[in-house]
This record gives sequence, C-alpha cells and structure tokens, in this order.
Amino acid sequence: EKGGFDHFMLKEIFEQPRSIADSMRGRVQADSGTMQLGGLRDYLDKLAASERIVIIGCGTSWHAGLVAEYIFEELARIPVEVEYASEFRYRNPIIKEGDIVIAISQSGETADTLAAIELAKSKGATIFGVCNVVGSSIARATDAGAYTHAGPEIGVASTKAFTAQVTVLTLMALAAAKRKGTISESLFRLLLAELESIPAKVEKVLQAADKIKEIAYIFTYARNFIYLGRGLNFPVALEGALKLKEISYIHAEGYPAAEMKHGPIALIDEDMPVVVIATKDSSYEKIVSNIQEVKARKGRVIAITTEGDTHLPSLVDFTIEIPKVHEVLVPLVSVIPLQLLAYDIAVMRGRNVDQPRNLAKSVTVE
Ligand code: F6R
Repeated sequence: EKGGFDHFMLKEIFEQPRSIADSMRGRVQADSGTMQLGGLRDYLDKLAASERIVIIGCGTSWHAGLVAEYIFEELARIPVEVEYASEFRYRNPIIKEGDIVIAISQSGETADTLAAIELAKSKGATIFGVCNVVGSSIARATDAGAYTHAGPEIGVASTKAFTAQVTVLTLMALAAAKRKGTISESLFRLLLAELESIPAKVEKVLQAADKIKEIAYIFTYARNFIYLGRGLNFPVALEGALKLKEISYIHAEGYPAAEMKHGPIALIDEDMPVVVIATKDSSYEKIVSNIQEVKARKGRVIAITTEGDTHLPSLVDFTIEIPKVHEVLVPLVSVIPLQLLAYDIAVMRGRNVDQPRNLAKSVTVE
C-alpha cells in the first residue's frame, strides 16, 4: 500500500505532481483561458464583492492560508487576515455581514477550526471551506467551498494536502480577481498556463531527491535549524521548519528573512544551518543580502535557488535548484525540497516518520 516507498510520507511527497493536477482537473482550461470552481458558483459574486476575508486553519493549513493571503491581496485586491483557528475562536472577533471566512482543513475534523467556523457563522459571515475529506464535519459546516483532490493523506506530516490547498486557494483568488476585474486578461491566462506547468516542475524537483539526501546526511545531527524566506516564500519557510521539527524532533524556526536582524541573527554561528528560499523573484536582491549577513557570521547556508542561478552557488554552502516558476505560484514548487530534506533527516535519525511521537493525524481535541 506504500507503493514501493519506505513510508507513506515519501509516497505522498512523490504523489504531488498528480495531486496538484487532480486539484485542477475539470477546473482549469489553460488552452481557452477559462476556469471554474463548481462549489463556488453561487457564491462567487459574494466573494468578489467582499471587503474582507478572514482565513482560519491550524498548522500546515494555516501556512497555506498565509500563502493565500499574498495571492488574494495581489490578484483580487481584497484585504485578508490569516488567523489560527484556536486564537480566533477564543477572542471576540470582529465579523460583519458580508465578511468571508475561508476555513482550510485537510481532515475536515480539526476541533478548533470547526468551533471557529461556528463562531463566525453566528456573527453572520459566509463560510467557504477548503477540505480534503469529502463529507467531513468542516465540509458540512461550510456554505460553499472547493475540495482539494489530494487523495487520502496517511503520513501525519502534511505534504500533498498543503500543495493541493495552495492550488485550490490560487484558483479561488483567480476566480475572484476575474469576477472583480482586478486581473488583466493576459495575466489571468498566463497564470492558468503556469498552473498547468506546475506538476511537471514538481516532478523535476523530485528527480533531485538523491542530491537532497546527500545534503540531509551532512546535517543529520544538527540541533537547530533556521528557515528564511521573503514574500510568498515566508510561509514556505514556516512550513519547512514545521516539517523538520515534527518528524525529526530537531528544533527549527522559520522567519521572514528581513526579521533576522531584529533578533534571530544572534543565533547564527558555524553550527547553525540556515535554509534560505532564494528564488529569482522580486525579493531576490534582498534575500541575497540576507544570505551575506548569515555567511558573515559563519552560518551554513542551504539555498533553494532558481535553475540557472550562477551567483548563489559561490556564496552559499549548498544549493538545491528548482525550475523557474511565476512568483505567485512559487510555493507550490519551493516547498518540495523542504519536505524531502525534513523526511531524509528524520529517516537518518531513525525517527518514526509516518507517526511522530505526540502527534495525531486529526486533532479532534481542543
Ligand atoms: C503538520 C500537520 C498539522 C495539521 C493541522 C491541521 O504537518 O499535519 O499541523 O496541518 O493539525 O490539520 P487539518 O488540516 O486536518 O485541519
């Protein structure tokens, strides 16, 4: 049932070209420049007209929400707030009629997310769900939504659910932007075409699995890790750190790279591995200077770079290349090497990768 893989997690990492494609199937027609989300049809006007979106989720689903914040704001120009469901529900959140709440949950059973939905509903919000399990409690509690079609995720650490969530949230943002008229026809078509190219690009990263394993080997006994990214790669840094800590039990922290100088830079020395997502996009120059700050303090840098970048390999200790991706879609590809790195380190440390200690696949307690 693991399909020849040693663990469900590895199988699920390798399934991503297919699960991303499945999450777009029947929804995206890049050739004709069209798309539709059946589960949103009756609510698309409401989404496009909303003045505010609140995204709620926990763990990896919350990270997908942070990615979606950038995409919704960039394309649909709707202000977005992303909240941990567990914090949202215990405050007295300000929700008004017309607000949209998007709840993200792989399992559809997370107790905090479900309670947050009920609270938002009681205050008059319209609830959209992004769930992976059909008929789950959260899917049933929402007014509308779009399923991720990642297939069953067995490994406790979420991998293919994350990329499926980001795919579906991108489609929601594109649909809202199109309806609102905040996206040009040419960018809309370009992003649909770029989306269709993602599975092949993910496949290409997976082919570098052996190289990633060699790097993992070198850092197997590190005690701490820092992950840095900017813009859309900031939530990817958080996700990379979460993957590492939950399955290898190595302490890891993700930061927006520019925040480093406000404290975490004090941690950098020759024993501190720093994973930097440094793809060629609008913040490239800035992240290169962040890397220089780390190198000046003898930190060891593993950089995720864009194919063909000839500058960074001379600056850092290790590079892992990913294909060129449109900036809006980069998390779908830049997260893949981080999933593999966490997996390899955990395996080398002899951890129970599919069932890490203290964790359950769905958190139905509060
Ligand atoms: C991380 C992980 C958890 C879940 C979180 C939310 O790898 O698996 O952080 O993402 O418990 O679960 P769902 O998405 O099922 O609501």
